[in-house]
Amino acid sequence: MAKVLMNKNDKFLVKDTSKDYHTKYGFFKKEDLKKNNSTINTNTNKKFSIFNPYFIDFYRKIKRNAQIIPLKDVGLIVAETGIDNKSKVVDAGSGSGALCCFLANIVKEVTTYEIRKDFIEIVKKNIDYLGLKNVKIKNKDIYEGVDEKNVDLIVLDLPEPWKAIDSAKKALKFGGFLVSYSPCIPQTADFVNKINNDKDFVHVKTSEIIEREWEIDDRKVRPRSQQIGHSGFVSFVRRI
Ligand SMILES: C[S@@+](CC[C@H](N)C(=O)[O-])C[C@H]1O[C@@H](n2cnc3c(N)ncnc32)[C@H](O)[C@@H]1O
Repeated sequence: MAKVLMNKNDKFLVKDTSKDYHTKYGFFKKEDLKKNNSTINTNTNKKFSIFNPYFIDFYRKIKRNAQIIPLKDVGLIVAETGIDNKSKVVDAGSGSGALCCFLANIVKEVTTYEIRKDFIEIVKKNIDYLGLKNVKIKNKDIYEGVDEKNVDLIVLDLPEPWKAIDSAKKALKFGGFLVSYSPCIPQTADFVNKINNDKDFVHVKTSEIIEREWEIDDRKVRPRSQQIGHSGFVSFVRRI
C-alpha cells in the first residue's frame, strides 16, 4: 500500500513500500514504511509523519501531456454545478484525463471523448493509477455527437466548443449543465454568443478565477513570487 511521508519541509508519495525509500534526507527502512498515522525517521534522523494517501496525493502525480485544467477551475465547476454521486457526466477532450479523473472521484460515471489515440493511452494510465472504475473513454469527435442520454453535466475543454452545442443539446437532461473552458476570450465569446441565440440554452455566467497564493513566515507575509497567471474562462450554461 502506498504511503505519504510529510514534514514541514517536504512531502513524498511512496508507491512501493516493499523496499527502502531513498530521499535527499537519507532513507526510510521498508519495515518503517508499514507504519501508519505515526512518525518515522530516516537513517540520518529526519522525522516525517506517515499516513495513507488521499485521492489528491495521487492526483497531483498523474501523467500530463495536454494542458490540464488547474484545481482552482475544477473547484469552480464542481461548486457551480453541484454534481454529486448520482451525476452522469461527459467530458471532452480528455487530454491528460485530469478533469475527467477528478470528476470521476465525485460522480457516478464519466464518459470522456478524445480524438487523439496517443492521449487516450495517457488517460488510461491515469485512470488505472487512480483506481477509478467509473470512466469510459471514447475515441470519438464530440462535434459529431454524444451517444449518452440524460446527462447531468457536459464539460468542454476544446478549441471550438461552439461546434459541440448541438451534440450537447441532445444528450443533456432539462436543467443539465454545459460548461465550456477556454483559455482565450474570442473562443469564449463565440461559444456564449451561439448559446445566446439558441432557445434551448440559457447562459448563466462566465467567470475567471484568479488565485493568489501567499507566503507566511513570521512577519514576512506577501504573495508568492511565482504564481499561476491566467488559465482560462469558464462559461456555465443550462439546457432548458
Ligand atoms: C486542453 S486538452 C483537455 C485537457 C483536459 N481537460 C484535462 O484536464 O486533462 C484538449 C483536448 O481536446 C482534444 N480534442 C480536440 N478536439 C476534439 C474533438 N472534436 N473531440 C474530442 N476531443 C477533441 C485534443 O486532442 C486535446 O487532447
